[in-house]
Amino acid sequence: MKALILAGGFGTRLRPLSCTRPKILFPITNKPLLDLTLKKLSINGVKEVILAVNYGAETLMSYCGNVRYGMKIFYSKDTAQPHSLGFSSYRPLGTGGPIKKAEKLLGRDEDFLVLNGDILTNLDYSALMQKHRESGGIATIALSRVEDPSRYGVVELKENMRIIRFVEKPSRDEAPSSLINAGIYALSPEIFDYIPETKPCSIEREVFPKLAAKNLLFGYPFQDLWIDVGKKEDYLKANVFFLKSLKKQFPENRRFNADVRIIEPVLIGENTSIGKDSAIGPSVVLGENVQIGIKVSIQNSVVFPGAVISDFAFIKGAVIGENAFIGKHVKIDENCVIGDGAVIKDHLTLTNHVTVCPFKTVSESVFEARCLM
Ligand code: GDD
Ligand code: MG
Repeated sequence: MKALILAGGFGTRLRPLSCTRPKILFPITNKPLLDLTLKKLSINGVKEVILAVNYGAETLMSYCGNVRYGMKIFYSKDTAQPHSLGFSSYRPLGTGGPIKKAEKLLGRDEDFLVLNGDILTNLDYSALMQKHRESGGIATIALSRVEDPSRYGVVELKENMRIIRFVEKPSRDEAPSSLINAGIYALSPEIFDYIPETKPCSIEREVFPKLAAKNLLFGYPFQDLWIDVGKKEDYLKANVFFLKSLKKQFPENRRFNADVRIIEPVLIGENTSIGKDSAIGPSVVLGENVQIGIKVSIQNSVVFPGAVISDFAFIKGAVIGENAFIGKHVKIDENCVIGDGAVIKDHLTLTNHVTVCPFKTVSESVFEARCLM
């Protein structure tokens, strides 16, 4: 079985963290999301994976290489477009165009999987494929249930799991149900006949409604863990959810002295140090090589590798980027996001959805939602 991962989005809702890495390389419990997805694909019997890349293509290619978890990895880039300064740039082909672009790699011999790369899920991919083969349709969409469907593709389901309507991002009043497109599809090769060549195309807006009208679109509702990590709040939530779902103790946390208080669940990367009288947790993920001073408090947060958090700092509900430097007595809370390499000077407070761009030095407190550039 082959799978294509849509991996080329610009991650605009995850800025400033996505300025320095493609969103599918964001760590979830200290492993890039892409690794969690690839591992699951290999367990589900996938032998070849195509990464449909655009933004961050080179980073992804050098990170992932040609073989991963025993599967061959191929790359399909969105269509090249000239850039006035001569560097490689690709015209975004959307969520449908990259599937057509990869037609030769996917081939027309068998059905295949297509995944949005920014999804964290426990879905059984082979069960989805099995249902698709039984349906006789061209596409079968995994469906999750959410409270507010307006941010997603929403379906109306009829007998035999047939989707009779697909509406992308409807208003709350117009959503036909609370069953949403989970961004995971089993597709038959006939799908290539519905997507234009080398042109941007949205599979959700231009292809699925046509298939629904012809009774060729099916749904596969499931109840397992499902999160689109593409928004800041959801990225933090995904880490916390997944950390809790690991349902294991972290015996390695006992390496810290009794004068460090760890309130589980807490995941701590290698070579991370914690000063005495600090309290870490609950729901905290610390990457590797993080340095934490004395009397620091961290709750419900994700700290990327190499960050330094100085004495007496207080961090709650925040994401701290790679190699960021947080000064002494700094307070950061309520969904603040600190970009890679940023410096927050001593005694400052950042609260209420403040975001800090990579490598920015912040010298004054900010109490309202703002992006510091
Ligand atoms: N190669 C390539 N080129 N990939 C792209 C492009 C592009 O131009 N644009 C987006 N992608 C990738 C993104 O990286 C992501 O993995 C996937 O396509 C979906 O794009 P998002 O930008 O994350 O879409 P969304 O979250 O707003 O909506 C989609 O996902 C929802 C589920 O989370 C839709 O499929 C919705 O219908 C769905 O409910
Ligand atoms: Mg998304």
